[in-house]
Amino acid sequence: MTMGTQHWIDIEKKHFLQTGKRLPAVLIRGEGTRVWDLDGKEYLDFVGGIAVVSLGHAHPVITEALQRQSQQLVTTSNYYYTLPQLKLAELLCNLSGMDRAFFCNSGAEAVEGLIKIARKWGKEQRDGAFEIIVADGAFHGRTLATVTASSNEKYRAPFTPLAEGFVRVPFDDVPAIKAATTGKTAAVLLEPIQGEGGVNVPADDYLVRVREWCDEAGVLLLLDEVQTGAGRTGKMFAFQHTSIEPDALAVAKAMGGGYPIGAFLVKEHAASLAPGEHGTTFGGNALGCEVAFSVLTYMVEQGLMNEVTKRGDHIERRLHALADRQPMVTEVRGKGLIWAVELDRPASEDIVNACLERGLLVNAVKPTALRFVPPFTVSDDEIDQALEIVEAVLATVAEREANG
Ligand SMILES: Cc1ncc(COP(=O)(O)O)c(C=O)c1O
Repeated sequence: MTMGTQHWIDIEKKHFLQTGKRLPAVLIRGEGTRVWDLDGKEYLDFVGGIAVVSLGHAHPVITEALQRQSQQLVTTSNYYYTLPQLKLAELLCNLSGMDRAFFCNSGAEAVEGLIKIARKWGKEQRDGAFEIIVADGAFHGRTLATVTASSNEKYRAPFTPLAEGFVRVPFDDVPAIKAATTGKTAAVLLEPIQGEGGVNVPADDYLVRVREWCDEAGVLLLLDEVQTGAGRTGKMFAFQHTSIEPDALAVAKAMGGGYPIGAFLVKEHAASLAPGEHGTTFGGNALGCEVAFSVLTYMVEQGLMNEVTKRGDHIERRLHALADRQPMVTEVRGKGLIWAVELDRPASEDIVNACLERGLLVNAVKPTALRFVPPFTVSDDEIDQALEIVEAVLATVAEREANG
């Protein structure tokens, strides 16, 4: 490590709130699936800004949209109409089957919007019902309400008292949702595949059965597609692998390709928020909407969902082959381009550090699991290279332990 890198690491130690652990790389440039650090070292990026960099780094569609729109109009507030925002709302509604959009700047804000939709809807349509059923292993964000909806106790405990009205049940367990539903229930909020919880894929019929129950009970089904939406699983939205539709959904991450933008999308019957009941300064700014519109249009026009599915099949085969050769890998989970391998020991942080040294960015989604969320533009070759690095590292860990 050069002095240059150490200098910036020292600045971070001195001037940042120490809320998270960083890896010792100062990244300064990216192109496609690759990024480079201050020392000129190259890495394959299978983190992609945590499932954000959908078109790869420095994609011309994004740089051109940024340049074009920033020269024309960056932001106006939502007192006025702007064309990028209206085009994006129409596109997202067409792509999702929802009726109305609200734009924000992050995933947490998008889910916060869903929570407000449910609260207001319950007040008006279900006799004041306000409870939202959420799942073990869920992650919905870091605002006070979304952290309460999330399952990780470590994220919640320091901030009590928390928002009221979240009822937690096991994931992929329809009877548990049924048992938790009462007259106070307004909605069920789920990720179609849990991302931060470790890439947990439920049974194929889970969403269908939850939808049936929500219809029977007369409560809303809200999907958090912040991580799975905008193409990550090989469909524009993960619920589109099934026959159902939610009443509302949240999307962010991949839709901006790196620009911070999110949205919640609702069916007309669930569009409970009235004028003045929600708002944002930056959300839906013309610059971000033009970027997201360009990203999503490119995905559709280039048939990128098919590429995600093909690359997904490739990475799935490779991960299973890796699991066959490396007994430390006990499970392979995922769909499209969101994957995790479960390990038989809490070694993921060490493995991530060793991968970094060998030129691969990969994420320790749990102490016992590694997550792979590369750009949709990743090639089969890059997948092979990345998994060769992972395999070499796993072999070293196994060998080290075997030698005591
Ligand atoms: C499913 C899900 N919901 C919400 C969020 C929060 O998004 P953000 O970090 O953009 O606020 C995340 C982030 O990882 C997520 O994976």
